[in-house]
Amino acid sequence: MNPVVTIANKRDGKELSRAEIAHFIHGFATAKIPEYQMAALAMAIYLQGMTTAETAALTEEMLASGTVMRWHDDGRAVVDKHSTGGIGDKTSLILAPLLACCDLRVPMLSGRGLGATGGTLDKLESIPGFRTDLDRNEIHAIVNRVGCVITGASQEFAPADRKLYALRDVTATVPSIPLITASIMSKKLAEGLDALVLDVKWGSGAFMKTAENARRLAHALVDTGLRMGVKTVGLVTDMNQPLGRMSGNALEVNESLEVLEGKGPADLWQVTEELGIELLLATGRSATRAAAAEMLQGHVQSGRAREKFAEMVHAQGGDLAQARVIAPATEVISERAGYVSAIDAEEFGLAIIELGGGRKLMSDKLDFSTGIEMRVRLGERVERGQPLVKLFAHAGQREHAERMIQRAIRIDEQPASAPTLIVERIP
Ligand code: URA
Repeated sequence: MNPVVTIANKRDGKELSRAEIAHFIHGFATAKIPEYQMAALAMAIYLQGMTTAETAALTEEMLASGTVMRWHDDGRAVVDKHSTGGIGDKTSLILAPLLACCDLRVPMLSGRGLGATGGTLDKLESIPGFRTDLDRNEIHAIVNRVGCVITGASQEFAPADRKLYALRDVTATVPSIPLITASIMSKKLAEGLDALVLDVKWGSGAFMKTAENARRLAHALVDTGLRMGVKTVGLVTDMNQPLGRMSGNALEVNESLEVLEGKGPADLWQVTEELGIELLLATGRSATRAAAAEMLQGHVQSGRAREKFAEMVHAQGGDLAQARVIAPATEVISERAGYVSAIDAEEFGLAIIELGGGRKLMSDKLDFSTGIEMRVRLGERVERGQPLVKLFAHAGQREHAERMIQRAIRIDEQPASAPTLIVERIP
């Protein structure tokens, strides 16, 4: 099979056959097809899109480039949640131990910060000693014993995605629905799941800037999961402002602990709870939404969820007792009175990168201590001189980040409404 013909077929808007996709992905994964041809095909896919059958074939071939986890059939269902990424999105840290408390297995393969969005692995690495490079045997052992792990996708799982993702990152082909779908789902399906819930974010701090595009992505992800025999549900949720109060690595671990102790912000709990409810229903652990909510709340109130998080951290080498350093705080003050009408959440993510909390280069070492605490929410009234955010930053970085934050929060005279947090459930 000639890869040039496959590229030309996609370039001209034709539907690729299963054999063409299999040959191309296998060739790329085994270095028989060079990166320049893969980059050309990725751009053709970006421009022409893919049918559902093509997207499923691409996902399956990327999945087949690595191994799939296998679990004992002992009645403990295997589940996961995946978010398409946002600012202050720490739901994975809360949900993994909560679900483990519900007698589910959670082998969560997570990622690092991407663009302006924060990464679950980066957040967890702010805990001294926490390891995110577990191999397959370690993942199995910890999941079977503790119930959950959160670790990186090593070379064993969907290696074709690793290679392709790095290439997409430098060829302007990341924001393509079929490519994102195959990338996310090949890694998630490698976990050997029974059920998966997807948190597809839309808004100023998400990859999908419109609810409509988020819906399209959610449908593509859910269709692919269902086709491959995994009970899959997608929630489209709001990312027009940071989720919860805290954004920044160590700050987000602290806020996750607060939620696990029943004290966190309401929006963060609401998204976490809704995602958890979907998995409890999908696996038959709960018969109704009310029973599922009660089960999740019960594990928070009893202190079990907090203990389970500590157990997971300990199993992954982390030391929760060792204090996480937080940078000195200053307040950014509103220069006028009015209503918070828009927040550029992506700019918040970029400000955190300026503070060293995210990467500009792959090789950058993170400063886990920096970040932002939101003191206002969309739709709220603010007075002149009222604090908008608290900035956790070291001297020398603060001024630039402060200007970014001032620009990112729009205050108008007209009252503005708060956004809907959970927009839609798919299917
Ligand atoms: N996350 C992924 O894992 N892959 C993408 O393509 C985008 C977000």
